[in-house]
Amino acid sequence: MNAFLLNINGAVRKVEADPAMPLIYVLRNRLGLMGAKLGCGLEQCGACAVIADGERVLSCVRTVSEFEGRAITTIEGLAEEGELNPVQRAFLDAGAAQCGYCTSGMVIALTAYLEAEEHPDRRGALEALEGHLCRCGAHADVLRAVDRLLADGA
Ligand code: FES
Ligand code: FES
Repeated sequence: MNAFLLNINGAVRKVEADPAMPLIYVLRNRLGLMGAKLGCGLEQCGACAVIADGERVLSCVRTVSEFEGRAITTIEGLAEEGELNPVQRAFLDAGAAQCGYCTSGMVIALTAYLEAEEHPDRRGALEALEGHLCRCGAHADVLRAVDRLLADGA
């Protein structure tokens, strides 16, 4: 076990973990941040996505030791003072979830895209969602959320 200082959602958190432990286990089992989901565990479904230094990254394989010193944002860190961020709001308004297992990863991916892209467009948003699988087939509703988001000038 090693001690790690992780910058998560704007706060420094100290955790004890095996350096080889994937970040998602630290988030969920050590820090109680249950928003990122463990799906495939093989970097193939997108459910475990978080933002690290502004970039969408998958947390199911990459180890906790890779994230020390990086600014990590999880789905729990997106709302400010109780206000959903625009992506969360668009998903809610469009009813873009069924079971919700994939939703956190998709919201994270779109948030990272919008924060990085000065002139976001539909194609870019859809590219950001590539690799995010939804077993419920909520894709049409997700597309509606994307269109709402872009129409609102996100
Ligand atoms: S759980 Fe990480 S990509 Fe599927
Ligand atoms: S809403 Fe169930 S997996 Fe996407």
